[in-house]
Amino acid sequence: MKNELLESYKGVRDFYPEDQFVLDYIKDTMARACESFGFEHYNASILENAELYYNKTSEEIVNEQTYIFEDRGGRKVILRPEMTPTVTRMVARKRRELGFPLRLYSIPNVFRYERPQRGRLREHWQLNADIFGAEGIEYEIELLLLVRQIMESFGAKESDYIIKINSRSVLDKIFDKLEIPPLARKSTLALLDRKDKMSKEDFEQELLAILANETENFKQALKEEAENGELQDYVKKLKNLGLQNLVVDTSIVRGFDYYTGFVFEVYDTNKSNPRAMFGGGRYDKLMDALGEEPLSALGFGMGDVTMRDFLELHGLLPEYRPATEIMIAVLDDNEELKNKAFDLAARLRREDINTAINFSFKKIDKQIKTASKLKIPFVLVLGEKELESKKYKVKNIQSKEQVELDEKEIANYIFESEI
Ligand code: HAM
Repeated sequence: MKNELLESYKGVRDFYPEDQFVLDYIKDTMARACESFGFEHYNASILENAELYYNKTSEEIVNEQTYIFEDRGGRKVILRPEMTPTVTRMVARKRRELGFPLRLYSIPNVFRYERPQRGRLREHWQLNADIFGAEGIEYEIELLLLVRQIMESFGAKESDYIIKINSRSVLDKIFDKLEIPPLARKSTLALLDRKDKMSKEDFEQELLAILANETENFKQALKEEAENGELQDYVKKLKNLGLQNLVVDTSIVRGFDYYTGFVFEVYDTNKSNPRAMFGGGRYDKLMDALGEEPLSALGFGMGDVTMRDFLELHGLLPEYRPATEIMIAVLDDNEELKNKAFDLAARLRREDINTAINFSFKKIDKQIKTASKLKIPFVLVLGEKELESKKYKVKNIQSKEQVELDEKEIANYIFESEI
């Protein structure tokens, strides 16, 4: 019978070394790309004051998808569902000391009570790259160039993904022109946000229910905008900078209330990874929502779950390598041999070789099997014979090659075979 106690909590993952290896690779690759664009690393606690989210971000996330509880002092606490309110709060607190434009990145784990499905879990790690005190299209372009840099660093080609851009302010202008009242605007945005998840007929019907007489005008205005509106400027500029896989898509609105202008999402072109991989935009008004002087800001979030799916689908996952480079297989339970094992390990560690010792005293075949299960590339055999001759057999587990080395040659041999 299955032991339920061994299962992880619904929608979260355990990271065995091979999974952690992939997560570390994803995080390192993201971090390097961000740093190459002048972004600095920051972090914060996963616990936040729930007040930071009410009426400032997204009703759906705050009311339906947050882990929220009361602490022993009666404070409402939230497990952060996203990083944007946190980073905005942090910037506000030290505003006078910080220099702008300020580029910040972090790769926090965030929590959302969603129905677990492909590409959506209850805990994920999310790169957040944000720029504060940054007006102007140039910063928006830099953000998209950073997206390209990240994807390139993972080995992706431009044909593997597509960047869809839109603008909240363009939508606002259309709403103004057609004199759409506030409630209908909100419903239209929410409907556009769900467009991809519903049939064309249902979409049309709901749009008609919201906009009534203005439905056709609205659709026409969107179409004109997509074809020759101000967003085409971005497309032209970015194409000149060599970024081709960019389209204007007026159905990208993003589910957060804080976006004010340019918004975008990035999708895998392979349809079996259907959820957005990146999402972001300009959110110049979040600072005011915290009761502070306005400050322009823009940024994006990019999750590890959809990125891992992307890497798998496109054959870009790196091959697992454990941190351990060599395992010393001690063949007998005798004092002299054990001391030699400690001694050899200390020497190798000083020479920067990650070394594990196996004190099971099992037969060499068994110990090699263990190394092979753990994917440790080298095994050093240490028995009476080696102690006497001072020559150590080092086996390469994969190639089955075996050499006999002096103590001081081992580290170098491993370095060279790893290149
Ligand atoms: P978001 O679109 O909610 O934006 O999330 C950004 C990315 O995080 C998504 O494109 C996806 O890769 C990943 N993601 C979101 N929810 C889940 C989930 N339940 N499971 C797995 N992955 C998920 C934001 O959170 C904004 N705060 C981003 C931002 C930063 N805007 C400006 N700066």
